[in-house]
Amino acid sequence: MSFLQIEQVNKRFEKQAALKNINLTVEKGELVCILGPSGCGKTTLLRIIAGLEMPEEGKVVINGRDCTALPPRERNFGVVFQSYALFPNMTVEQNILFGLSGQKNKNKEEKRFRVTEVLRMVDLLDHRKKYPSQLSGGQQQRTALARAIAPGPEYLLLDEPLSALDAKVRVKLRAEICRIQRTLGITTIMVTHDQEEALTMADKIVVMNNAVVEQTGTPHEIYNRPGSPFVAGFIGTMNFYERGNALLGVRPENVTVGRDLFREDDTHWIGTVMGLEFRGSQTRVYGRLRGGLEICADIPSGEADGLGVRSGEKCCFHIPEEHFVRYPA
Ligand SMILES: Nc1ncnc2c1ncn2[C@@H]1O[C@H](COP(=O)(O)OP(=O)(O)O)[C@@H](O)[C@H]1O
Ligand SMILES: [Mg+2]
Repeated sequence: MSFLQIEQVNKRFEKQAALKNINLTVEKGELVCILGPSGCGKTTLLRIIAGLEMPEEGKVVINGRDCTALPPRERNFGVVFQSYALFPNMTVEQNILFGLSGQKNKNKEEKRFRVTEVLRMVDLLDHRKKYPSQLSGGQQQRTALARAIAPGPEYLLLDEPLSALDAKVRVKLRAEICRIQRTLGITTIMVTHDQEEALTMADKIVVMNNAVVEQTGTPHEIYNRPGSPFVAGFIGTMNFYERGNALLGVRPENVTVGRDLFREDDTHWIGTVMGLEFRGSQTRVYGRLRGGLEICADIPSGEADGLGVRSGEKCCFHIPEEHFVRYPA
């Protein structure tokens, strides 16, 4: 049996649907990312799992128990939000102790021991006496994470925990959350609008759009076999072409660029280079095909240098047949 089951959940705010027929299962120990654009219903779904919001229809089953109508305090989870939500007048240590205040079975000594334990886990032992204002954003978010895991909850809910941080810190904390999650083996549901975050962190991704689940799958499945044009366009970049009554998608890294202008067929298309974008190891080549269709190709930068293509020149864009993803038009 799955750790968490969401069955046919519906939620509206006034007239507007925030969640439509949501079904979702989460296995014990899994890190699941709920991914989608702003306003698609991610936070509402997380709040329903937390018991902060009630669904109008549907069921939330956690560990075999119907929790749909259970208040948050009777669900055993830890939570971290985008804004750090630390108490500014308490030190790191006091913030975490506060998270333990509900644990009547632990004495003061045991609580202190637990605080040290989680501070070591998030690498903040040296900062235990500091106030939130004396910490960087990343350190504040690590404190929030320590506070969430300190009571040893059954599962962890994270709502865009990295969104307020700058890029470098975000990447570092990404790995750190994964490490802690795997060490504890704690079932974790994380909301994000950042596709890279979801791809790098998740065991399973749930892609949402407009109050519905568009696709559920592993990062590989979602990226390599996106179930709809929306998913394909939201996660990474996808070129789209209509052919007959099908819509064909192809990832830029599967398009190759050549100088051979004498071959044109279903997979070799002559076009004009409209621009080049150096991206370090890869270079993105923007092209316009006959008939005005646009295409972009990501090729190794060494190869781009070797080809020496420039804006305005003609070249051949080649897409091996096996790399087309087909959708009904
Ligand atoms: N308390 C609320 N009252 C009215 N509308 C809400 C409320 N919470 C969320 N919504 C609406 O529901 C939709 C989904 O919101 P939300 O779950 O916060 O999306 P996300 O987290 O994906 O950005 C949005 O259109 C939002 O405006
Ligand atoms: Mg949200």
